[in-house]
Amino acid sequence: MPPTVDLAPDKPTGAGLEVAAGHTRCVRFNADGVFLVHSRSGQHAAITARQWYDILVNKEVEDLKGGNFWMPKAVNLTADDSDLMYYAVLGLSLFFFVGIAGAVVYFCIRYRHRPGHKPEPSPAHNDALEITWTVIPTIICVFLFYYGWNTYVRVVTPPTKAVEINVLAWRWNWQFTHSNGVQDSDLHVPVNTPVRLVMTSKDVLHSFYAPVMRVKQDIIPRRYTYAWFFPTKPGTYRLTCAEYCGTNHSQMGITNDGRRAVLVVHKPGDYERYLSDKAALSLNMNPVDLGRTLYEKKGCNACHTVDGSARVGPTFSHDFGTMVPLSDGSQVKMDENYIRESVIYPQAKARPGYPPSMPSFEGQLKDKEIEGIIAYIKSLQ
Ligand code: CUA
Repeated sequence: MPPTVDLAPDKPTGAGLEVAAGHTRCVRFNADGVFLVHSRSGQHAAITARQWYDILVNKEVEDLKGGNFWMPKAVNLTADDSDLMYYAVLGLSLFFFVGIAGAVVYFCIRYRHRPGHKPEPSPAHNDALEITWTVIPTIICVFLFYYGWNTYVRVVTPPTKAVEINVLAWRWNWQFTHSNGVQDSDLHVPVNTPVRLVMTSKDVLHSFYAPVMRVKQDIIPRRYTYAWFFPTKPGTYRLTCAEYCGTNHSQMGITNDGRRAVLVVHKPGDYERYLSDKAALSLNMNPVDLGRTLYEKKGCNACHTVDGSARVGPTFSHDFGTMVPLSDGSQVKMDENYIRESVIYPQAKARPGYPPSMPSFEGQLKDKEIEGIIAYIKSLQ
């Protein structure tokens, strides 16, 4: 049978798996393992092992399925009111735009200057007309105010029993912290449960934006802001930063393989399973795997490459164990101490040619996690 997918050539140096025709080989997959495989005919491919929740975050976002030209289909219980307001305002604006522009064009033609035509006298006053153009707009404005205010109050008042998730934003990643301490750069939430976000920023203004939830809220340094929604349909949805926050604003929350951070709404029971599986996983990882995971989950990848090229910050590869130049002209050996210090006080021994934009990770990485980062950087040499 011909292959149903196009196989791209892998690197011949990869850890390939060769199985003779008619034979069976048993393979055990680690989390996040990628196995290059090839057939005897010379075709190559990769088998990737992922956690079940990582398969969910790698699914295509559902924002573009359903919905219309203006908006994706809402999956927030309270979004219908704000959608209705949006369509009402859009409809009213269109109606009056067409009416007024039409009248202007009509009058321009009807009363244009022509030879042999005298201007008609215009009345100075018309009670019926003036009452009409005052009363009707007043009714419209009161209607807009009442429903707008009503919807606003509901949007800013979360129910008392909500799943609470802490959100920390920085250049350029998200960190969502759940009740049991699990941290992730994708947002996982349960279906049919109100979710409340308590958000703050490490550096500059960001904005949490989940289009299908109709939730957009600024995130402000040294201050908490809130957002809440009630997801009604399990799925994988778009999540983005909606406030220009510097060079990589449009890449905020991007992963090693180029995927964007997403919002995953879990089926009943799966959110709890995610919390416990994820907690168990981070306890059991070896340091290099832990470092590699953190490199992505903490957003190091927004500024540091692992292929030797410079981005906003220096690359993670090649330099370990060597003397590296500093901004003040001196040199320092890039070792465990240098990495640890740079994670906690990024500007203490800054390298020349890079902007001083790295935030401190003091208190946000446990010792074990810093050791993981060090182990990962060492593994790249
Ligand atoms: Cu964060 Cu834009």
